[in-house]
Amino acid sequence: MTRKLQEGIYHAPKTRPGKFFVILFLRAGEGFNASQIGEAFLKLWEVYQGLKNGKIRDLPDHPVPSGDLTVLVGYGPNVFKLANVQHPLPRDLDSKNQFRSPRPTGGGSLMIGSGLQYTDDIRSNFATEEIVVQFIAETQLAVNRAVVETWKILREMTDVDTSTAPLLQTSFYSGFQREDHRSWIDFHDGLSNMKSEEREKAIVVKPRPSTEQDDQWTEGGTYLAFLRLGVDLDIWQTLDRQQQELLVGRDKLSGCPLEKLTSEGKPVGSVGCPFIGTKEVSDIEDGNLKFLEPKKVADTVIDQSHVQRANRHVDPVEDRNSLRIFRQGYEFLEPIESYPGFRAGLNFVSYQDTPERLRRILTQSKWLGSTNFGGDPVAPVPGMDSFLTVRAAGVFLVPPVIDGELFPGANIFFEAD
Ligand code: HEM
Repeated sequence: MTRKLQEGIYHAPKTRPGKFFVILFLRAGEGFNASQIGEAFLKLWEVYQGLKNGKIRDLPDHPVPSGDLTVLVGYGPNVFKLANVQHPLPRDLDSKNQFRSPRPTGGGSLMIGSGLQYTDDIRSNFATEEIVVQFIAETQLAVNRAVVETWKILREMTDVDTSTAPLLQTSFYSGFQREDHRSWIDFHDGLSNMKSEEREKAIVVKPRPSTEQDDQWTEGGTYLAFLRLGVDLDIWQTLDRQQQELLVGRDKLSGCPLEKLTSEGKPVGSVGCPFIGTKEVSDIEDGNLKFLEPKKVADTVIDQSHVQRANRHVDPVEDRNSLRIFRQGYEFLEPIESYPGFRAGLNFVSYQDTPERLRRILTQSKWLGSTNFGGDPVAPVPGMDSFLTVRAAGVFLVPPVIDGELFPGANIFFEAD
């Protein structure tokens, strides 16, 4: 039986993620069993396969541009509580690798040991539903249309007398890619996102040991972690360039990793970086490759920076203890009524063979633990203790594609023939 990763994970060499992103959450209606939820999702899946070919149900024989849409489906822990479900909860999806709920009054810690908090105005987390669908496309229309077409189908499935439906669309979040390879804080992002040849080793669920036979069906799949993070640019803009660089661990303009501080406390980048004749490490030039992943440093301040805390150089990547993850984030900007009139942030998305990798990055004190971005958690730069805040968060199993299966993960819902 061949198993491969679902589409929508742009890990292979020379692939680039599509420009637009939507992540959509579906809740199972109360009282519906696994096969009823599976049947309902199958209808959606068929519509999605049509959209990928430009087919719209309400426009028969009138194809539209598909925008190179890709569709990926994942499942949260609650799916495994449905009546007649075919598998027990996979070990790696259990509560130790899940995020906590926000406080009923808003805010609250994301995980014990993590410095990430929910934003004060967040009282419910919608990224915990049974099903998650990730849409990525080259056009905003293609990802947005998938949301509206989902709604049309679910509307048809709703019983008019009782208003019940097997699946309910609870929320969706959208984002976009940046062609400048930077993030809202103006620094480069994605530079050290593992070599493309190595990524699959960190992403794909490995063969399960014989003691974990009941999880063998997850082999060849992966786990998706999603965090909708608000980035407080008002705080960031109060910092000078040097403070920002020490928090990130890179030079702001060139992207060169910082290595040490001068006796006056000025950060110094790697020698020979960027490569002669280039201005930035992101300039495609072989001489820059060695600067993409920051090296271990002796200086304590630089050692506490974001890039150092996010990768402690433990090899090999296929070992879960390396805590390497494949990040595929999309930025967002949305209007709000209060100052400054917008909210900027990142849809943090990572793929890994076990969510334990991300949990340990976020909670271990040598890693990001106790901080929400980086720096010294005991004496944080003023304001940095609430620089990143969480608006929604969830962890999902993304089962492999298996030849002949109705949709990835169909074996959770339907008995095998
Ligand atoms: C909880 C959320 C986050 C986690 C777990 C995380 C994790 C990581 C990881 C693993 C790396 C690569 C380090 C390496 O392999 O050498 C990285 C780099 C980086 N991250 Fe984050 N990150 C998070 C949030 C953010 C946010 C919200 C921003 C921007 C506001 C950001 C900005 C950066 C930058 C500028 C880099 C350096 C560029 C690069 O090396 O790719 N991160 N982060």
